[in-house]
Amino acid sequence: MKKQNTQDALSTVPAEAQASATEDLDSAWNGVVGRRTFLKGVGMTGAAALIPAALTTTGAMAARKAALTDGDVAILQFLAAAELIETDLWQQYNELGGVDGGNVSYQAALSNLDGDMPQYIADNTDDEMSHAAFLNAYLKSMGAEQVNLDAFRTLPSSKATGAQQIGRLTNLQKLNVDTSWYTRYRSTQNPDFGTTFPQAVTIKNEPAIPLNDTETPPGTSQPVPPDSTAASRMQAIANTAGFHFAYIEQGGASLYTSLSLKVSSLEVLRIVVSIGGVEVDHFGLWHDKCGNAVAQPLAGVTDPETGLTFPDLNAPPFGGEQFQTNLILPEPASFIRKNLPPVSVIRPSLTENAGAVATIESLTADLLFEGQTPQFFTTVMALARAADAAERQAH
Ligand SMILES: [Fe+2]
Ligand SMILES: [Fe+2]
Repeated sequence: MKKQNTQDALSTVPAEAQASATEDLDSAWNGVVGRRTFLKGVGMTGAAALIPAALTTTGAMAARKAALTDGDVAILQFLAAAELIETDLWQQYNELGGVDGGNVSYQAALSNLDGDMPQYIADNTDDEMSHAAFLNAYLKSMGAEQVNLDAFRTLPSSKATGAQQIGRLTNLQKLNVDTSWYTRYRSTQNPDFGTTFPQAVTIKNEPAIPLNDTETPPGTSQPVPPDSTAASRMQAIANTAGFHFAYIEQGGASLYTSLSLKVSSLEVLRIVVSIGGVEVDHFGLWHDKCGNAVAQPLAGVTDPETGLTFPDLNAPPFGGEQFQTNLILPEPASFIRKNLPPVSVIRPSLTENAGAVATIESLTADLLFEGQTPQFFTTVMALARAADAAERQAH
């Protein structure tokens, strides 16, 4: 019976992905059978990422499911997982630094980047919640399996004032933030032709949320420039968050672009490009705001704990096309074929650089999943491989 349930949970994942995923999920399953048994009565599965359609499917839904290809279902399921992950990280930012957040010093440090930062954080969080809820509701309406990552909400919360003490999917407490998107979008070169790009700021092992009230007391004032060790630490954390916001959302912009090319149904395509457009909007917003961490008057903050410095990217040895902070619109770049004229586009968009697997690998390198179980990685990578394997079928 347990074996059958595990197979149900992976029934929309291609055979090659199932082979590696099933073994790991079997071991994960043993630890959560009790929970699953408890939840069965309300039609939920605690351990599996996918809620079996058999529990929710009506005759009409089954008919609609026939209208979706397996590839479209896989794309929607991976995007639902990605949006649950986005929601989890944005909720952590929102609890502490959003407009109704609970950490006044963090809000103040974020507001040094832009006075509207707390409002934008709250709105971005709302957007991600709506993305996740809509994608799962659409899957259910079509008789397909929804995605549920609740079993993996095991990571610790920040101990700082404002943070709820609940299990998290993601870890914002020690990030390696890849900032090469900053130089990539200022370049005329395209990563889909193999070009690599330098970091704008090298952010290693840096928190993006306050960790506790000892090193960053929540009542500390946050003048520019910071006037105490605690204020410098909090400003470096807020600056890191600013770059992390843009890193997350540029990834979403590329991911949706990449997966849109594999969609078969026009209705699913409408969903993917319409949500994807909002990821681009988020990216553009955060790209503008995080530049204020590396421009006057805020530039020059050093984290007293890690030594990380946010330089002035408008001054030597930086500045110019590759670093100037107000060059936030995508520079025209090579695209499709190098003998075509440069064009301002989202990039990368090829599967190997922008697809679902590339996205999970990038978020893993970011240390966003630090502390997660092997079963978590097995589950999200199975969903990612299935989405990347989708092929567009013209009707
Ligand atoms: Fe989203
Ligand atoms: Fe987003």
